[in-house]
Amino acid sequence: MPRFLGLLVRTLLVVYAVVFAPTAQAADGSATRGEKLYGAKCGGCHSIETNRIGPRHRGVFGRTAGTVPDFSYSRALQESEVVWNDESLDSWLTNPAVFIPGQRMFVRVGKADDRADIIAYLKQQSDD
Ligand code: HEC
Repeated sequence: MPRFLGLLVRTLLVVYAVVFAPTAQAADGSATRGEKLYGAKCGGCHSIETNRIGPRHRGVFGRTAGTVPDFSYSRALQESEVVWNDESLDSWLTNPAVFIPGQRMFVRVGKADDRADIIAYLKQQSDD
C-alpha cells in the first residue's frame, strides 16, 4: 500500500508539472499579453514611436531614464540616473511617485504579473 501511494504521488507530481509548467514560466512575462495591457493602460499617454503626454517607448529597455531628446521630462526623472531594466521598470510601474519622487506620471499597475507582461512587451521594442 505505501509503495502504491508513493507511485501515485509521483504520478500526480509529473501530471502537475506538465499541466502547470507554462503557468510557472509566465513569471517571466508574456509579451503578447503585455501588448494588450500596454494598449489598455499605457496607450492613453504613450506610444512606441511617438511622444504624446508621455515619452515614446522605442528602445526604453536598457536606456537611461529621461533621455528621449525631444520630450520634456520632469527634472526628477531626468536627474534620477535610473537605467530601465526589469527591476527598475517593476518598481516604477508599482508606484512611480515612490520610486522617483517628483516625477509626473501618476499611474500604477497593481498586479505583479501585469507588470511583468508589460515589461516583456517593452523589452521587445528595441532600437534595432
Ligand atoms: C496619464 C498619462 C500616462 C499613462 C497612462 C502612463 N504614463 Fe508613463 N509617463 C507619463 C509621463 C507624463 C511620463 C514622464 C514623467 C516625468 O517626466 O516625470 C511618463 C514616463 C514613463 C516612463 C519613463 C520613460 C523614459 O523615457 O524615461 C516609462 C518607462 C513609462 N512612462 C511607462 C509607462 C507604462 C508601461 C504605462 C502603462 C502601464 C504608462 N507609462 C502609463 C504619462 C503616462
